Amino acid sequence: MGPAMRSTLPRRFYADPDFYRAELERFYFDRWICAGRADQIPNAGDYFTRTIGDESVIVSRDASGSARAFFNVCRHRGTRICEAADGHFAGRIQCPYHAWTYDLDGTLLAAPHMPPDFCRDDYPLKRAGCTVWEGHVFVFLRPSPSDLPDLPDLPDFSPYAMADLRLGRRIVYDVHANWKLIVLNYNECLHCPLIHPALNRLHHYLGADNAEPTADYCGGAMGFNPGVETMSVDGKRRRPFLPGLNGAQRQQVVYYSIYPNLLLSLHPDYLLTHTLWPRAHDRTEIVCEWHFHRDVIGAAGFQIDDVVEFWDTTNREDWRISELSQLGIQSRAYEPGPYSMREALLWSFDEIVRRSAGS
Ligand code: FES
Ligand code: FE
Repeated sequence: MGPAMRSTLPRRFYADPDFYRAELERFYFDRWICAGRADQIPNAGDYFTRTIGDESVIVSRDASGSARAFFNVCRHRGTRICEAADGHFAGRIQCPYHAWTYDLDGTLLAAPHMPPDFCRDDYPLKRAGCTVWEGHVFVFLRPSPSDLPDLPDLPDFSPYAMADLRLGRRIVYDVHANWKLIVLNYNECLHCPLIHPALNRLHHYLGADNAEPTADYCGGAMGFNPGVETMSVDGKRRRPFLPGLNGAQRQQVVYYSIYPNLLLSLHPDYLLTHTLWPRAHDRTEIVCEWHFHRDVIGAAGFQIDDVVEFWDTTNREDWRISELSQLGIQSRAYEPGPYSMREALLWSFDEIVRRSAGS
């Protein structure tokens, strides 16, 4: 089949609640997913929680300094232990129901009124897989972390030293569109002239230099238009270059989708991330964060409004058109449409989705 004949996915991939639930199993419970950033939990006992489907996971730092992930499920009668989105455990994790108490490494320390032969060692918190890549915490929501696959090989972004970046701003969006429509929209700039008048002034919508897509990611670089220094409201760069970037990296933005849920946008002076949290077949919570080098955050004259405002506007433009895509695809009149020759990355993602669905 020639590229011009490649078609978008059938309606059920976006509009069927049962298909959505099965897809969550394949894409979110059978893969490493990006939960957040290691700098959200700098100290032992710091934690944040994430929910996906019926699952909730606690990501915390133990006394040895390692990031760990636990299913948010008490081993007594199953109660969800932590309700807060983030916080700090004062040395112990305690269930609010009957005070079963766990160490930061998940070991059960105290369980009141149990019989004398009760063995606490048999009831640690269930661990999920947890690993850190370039400052990003990935979790694998399988309650037997000993048989997990390795984190896939990801592109070499080492010049950006993402582990040295720190959160500057977070905005959470509630978008009424299937999570895959967010990925597809991110993977192309053909819509930029019509949807993003401000962004379209900063780089050319056909200017992407894409890497060969893999089963785990796709993406590429886009060079700036003449006179543009970064993606900001006016194209000016108000922060130093990230240390370690070469000449080419100082003149481009690098966009990558790491499947299933991390969108990485690497700029000469900051990192933008989106993590996607499917909530329904037609709804996705999107956590958007702006990260800056740890040495410039808080320095005299440090400012971020120029890039926050720029991407917040661009985000809202993307979410709106993604919601309109969702609405159209839900119509009984929808049928898969032909991709253009400039939409190869989208088709490569669809193929991964299609294969995993066995269709
Ligand atoms: Fe957690 Fe009882 S359910 S202590
Ligand atoms: Fe866009």
